[in-house]
Amino acid sequence: MAEARWYDLGTVEELKKQPLQQIAVGRNRIALSYRDGTFGAISGLCNHAGGPLGEGRLDGDYVVCPWHHWKFHARTGEGEPGFESDCVPRYDLREEDGRLLVNLTPATRRHKNPHEPHPLARRPERAPGPVRVLGISTTAMDPQFPRYSTSEALLETALAAAGGRGAETRLLRLSDLRFRACEGYYSKSAHACTWPCSITQMDPEDQMEAVYEGIVHWADVILVATPIRWGSASSLYFKMVERMNCVQNQVTIGNRVLLHNKVASFIITGGQDNIQAVAGQMLGFFAEIGCLFPQFPYIAHSRGWSAEDMEHNIEYVRKSATLHDGARALVTRAIDLANVLLAAHQDPDRVERAGRKGCPAALPEPPAAVAAAVE
Ligand code: FES
Repeated sequence: MAEARWYDLGTVEELKKQPLQQIAVGRNRIALSYRDGTFGAISGLCNHAGGPLGEGRLDGDYVVCPWHHWKFHARTGEGEPGFESDCVPRYDLREEDGRLLVNLTPATRRHKNPHEPHPLARRPERAPGPVRVLGISTTAMDPQFPRYSTSEALLETALAAAGGRGAETRLLRLSDLRFRACEGYYSKSAHACTWPCSITQMDPEDQMEAVYEGIVHWADVILVATPIRWGSASSLYFKMVERMNCVQNQVTIGNRVLLHNKVASFIITGGQDNIQAVAGQMLGFFAEIGCLFPQFPYIAHSRGWSAEDMEHNIEYVRKSATLHDGARALVTRAIDLANVLLAAHQDPDRVERAGRKGCPAALPEPPAAVAAAVE
């Protein structure tokens, strides 16, 4: 039997004041709870991705992890009903002269049930075949009552041209997908923002998976079309890119590049102005996740501030041979670059980008025990 290692946590009176707290003792992290007159001590490291259990909350007898809400019994360490065997270590406690002592030798062992990895978690590998062009329409239309979208119309023209050049094409309309807004897991901890996205893993109803599958695993060319709304890309565009934080985060925290040989291009249309600012944002974001761009990577249309005749916008775009030719030429440039990249077989998994790791002011990495808990 392992030797007991009793450690004085402090006065009972003081420790009673918080229903749940995370206590560090050397390399140990302990989630100490106090409920209905009873203390409980379990490991402070969650089985899922190493979340700090003691910084979560109590739900009855269960500690709820603050990162992705897995639950463990506050006194036994067992998983919630149905998942009891997925458990974290429990520690023995004793009170002595008004003080609370914990035995740092765990009374039970950690056990993680095997979980099938999410299908998106597979290594991105390009299957043989012709160039693949993914069109993403970000206009916010009611799918029940579709109407003409200038950005989507030009996207459809581009995809038809891509098909004519022998490319495989797919069109995703974000307005057809039901997906949740990013909840900023990154702000809880860099390691709480997981790949695949925590929401995707937790919520089977969430349909962002189609976008991840298309961008990370399928496409060679990503062609994003957006209207201009108040000088910016559409709200659905931003809802999508916020959810793609998990792709960029893999580079930030693990120097793991998920996107290989991807070319991004953009179609931007609006009644008024700000095309260059919209393009700048889109170029910046897609550069951050590792995309490359053809020469002249976007086409755009705006009637401008002075015209202010948005009712003519649709008519203009519908009839503009220049814009439709431009859409065809844009996707041709993107496909040509994709073919060059595919032929070059450059496929870096890692990149030096002078980010988080190189910054002396960066917060310390999580304790080694966290890394060990994250498998
Ligand atoms: S639920 Fe605890 S780390 Fe994910």
